[in-house]
Order: sequence, then C-alpha cells, then structure tokens
Amino acid sequence: MRIGSLELSGSAVLAPLAGVSDRAMRELCLSYGAAMVTTEMVSAKGYTMRDRKSKELLRLSDLEHPGAIQLFGYDPDTVAEAAKAASDEFSFETLDLNMGCPAPKITGNRGGSSLLKDVPLAVDIAAAVVKAVDKPVTVKMRTGWDPEHLVCVDLAKRLEDVGVAALTVHGRTKEQMYAPPVDRNSIRAVVEAVSIPVIANGDVRDGPSAKSMLEETGAAAVMVGRGAMGRPWCFQQINAYLKDGTVLPEPPLEERMEVLLRHAEKIVQYKGEYIGMRETRKHAAWYIKGTRGAAQFRADVGRLSTLEDLTVLTEKVITMSKV
Ligand SMILES: Cc1cc2nc3c(=O)[nH]c(=O)nc-3n(C[C@H](O)[C@H](O)[C@H](O)COP(=O)(O)O)c2cc1C
Repeated sequence: MRIGSLELSGSAVLAPLAGVSDRAMRELCLSYGAAMVTTEMVSAKGYTMRDRKSKELLRLSDLEHPGAIQLFGYDPDTVAEAAKAASDEFSFETLDLNMGCPAPKITGNRGGSSLLKDVPLAVDIAAAVVKAVDKPVTVKMRTGWDPEHLVCVDLAKRLEDVGVAALTVHGRTKEQMYAPPVDRNSIRAVVEAVSIPVIANGDVRDGPSAKSMLEETGAAAVMVGRGAMGRPWCFQQINAYLKDGTVLPEPPLEERMEVLLRHAEKIVQYKGEYIGMRETRKHAAWYIKGTRGAAQFRADVGRLSTLEDLTVLTEKVITMSKV
C-alpha cells in the first residue's frame, strides 16, 4: 500500500493507542513486522502551548519508521499550526488527524469523534493541515456518531477532495464505543467511494481476521489495536497468513515471557524504572492473560516495581503452567 509517496512493506499497521502504544511498543511491533506505527494521540493545542508531555509524545526514535504522529483538536488554525511546528521539529512520515476518539474528555472539547457531528468543520481542519505541511496527511475516523448518522462515506469523499492522502476507518460508531459488531459494510462503502487508500480497523487480531477484513472491505491494509496489546507478534502471524496461509501459533509461554521482559526493559530504558515499571503493569497483565492461574498473579502484577520483580513473576508464571 502507498500513502502519498510512502510505500508500506506490509498490510498490517499498529493502531494509535493512548497510554499503550508508546515508543517501546511501537519499536517492538515494527520488529515483528508492523508496516507502520502511529504515536498516541496528542493535543494540538497542548503542543502549540509547548506542553512538555505533548512534545515528548511526538518524538519518534530512529527505530520507529515508517511512523505517523497523530494530533487531535477542533480549531483548524490551531491544528494546522501544531502540524506545521511538528513537521519542523520532528521526524515522521505521515501526519494523522484523530476523528474517532470517543472519550468525553476529548469529545467534550469538540475533538475526536465529535467532529463526526460537524463534517464541514472536520473537512476545514483537514484542509488547513494539508495546506500547512508537506507530508501526507491522513485521517482516522469512525463510521459516524450513532447508527442514524453514518457520515463516513460523505466525510471520506470530502476529505479526499481537500487532499487527504489516506483514511483509516474504525467500523464502529462513537455510540458503540468498543462493542461489537464491526460494520465492515460501511468500511467497504468508503473504499468504493474514494480513490485514496483505506485502512480497515476493528477487531483484527490474527491472520484469518485480517484476511477476511481485507476481502470483505477491499481495504488496502488493516490496523490492529487491542489485538496487539500483550501480543506484538500478531503482526508476524498476520503477515505469514496473508502471504501464503501459514498459521503461526501463539509463541510458547517461555517466549511470550521473554518478549514481556524485553518490552519492559524498553519501557524502563525510555521512562526510567519508577514510571516505567508502573506502566509495565498493564502490559504484564495482557501478556499473562489466559495463562494458567493468571488471576492469581494479579496482585504480583499490581506490585511490580523493578525489572527484577518482573523476572521473578515471569518465572512463577512459567512454573505454574507446568504443574
Ligand atoms: C486503550 C486505547 C487507546 C486508544 N487510543 C487511541 C488514540 O490515541 N488515537 C486513536 O485514533 N484511536 C485510539 N484508540 C482506538 C484504536 O486506535 C482503534 O481504533 C480501536 O481500538 C479499534 O481497533 P481494535 O478493535 O483493533 O482495538 C484507542 C483504543 C484503545 C483501546
């Protein structure tokens, strides 16, 4: 798939996941074959006000390419200003605009999925950003605010008209949040309505779900969110299946625990042990989920404070699986 002049090497990309898809996770997913990664969403306003945290979130390491940064906001001038400043300050391949986030904190400020209720404003924002930067601009949206207002096809066409280079469609309404089902028909309708590439998103987590999503929607690629949480190897599985139908099983528990340790080491390397280990806790819970006695380790996960604690825990998990 091609976004503007950028050619992607595969058909599965990592979703932006606030609080989850940080540099450590992005690097890990790329190493397993994700074709592209995106930063966590960043407030355009926060960044233009030089908020230190927003700025830090926009920085991609040398190992994180191709990579996109994602901005959210509601004021075309502010988002365009942030986009221009970020292009000058950071190294990234494409710039994505968030038009799908359902969190009240974001929609209450007219950002994220609340733009689905105001298509002209959504288009104005995209047009302003396309004008402000040289890089390809992409948009990630849901199908609509609620089932009575599926705006994705109309919005997609208008975004294409103002120069947006690619779209990601999460096949749910804002009202649905993350509940099933994923509306593949609406994604397909967008694919048929525009000439720019469309990335299909929603409940893809392995080879078969990626393949059926691509076949049923005609999308150019799939985006994986929750399916990659605690499972960065899912990209390898998807790529193998799409290539020749090979079904790679979940890695053995020992290997999964090794990846968890590697993941935690990266988090600690980038954020220091105090913050890093607190952030590792949720990842550890995802990696351990489904193993024998997982519930019993909940308290240990909640107390993780050092990499040594994590090593001890992974050994316990492995031992437990053998009894
Ligand atoms: C914890 C979490 C954080 C998310 N953060 C973002 C974000 O920062 N930007 C965005 O566009 N979507 C965000 N999303 C939505 C995902 O990118 C994706 O569209 C959604 O999870 C559906 O894909 P999935 O079924 O593969 O998880 C987030 C989702 C989750 C679960």
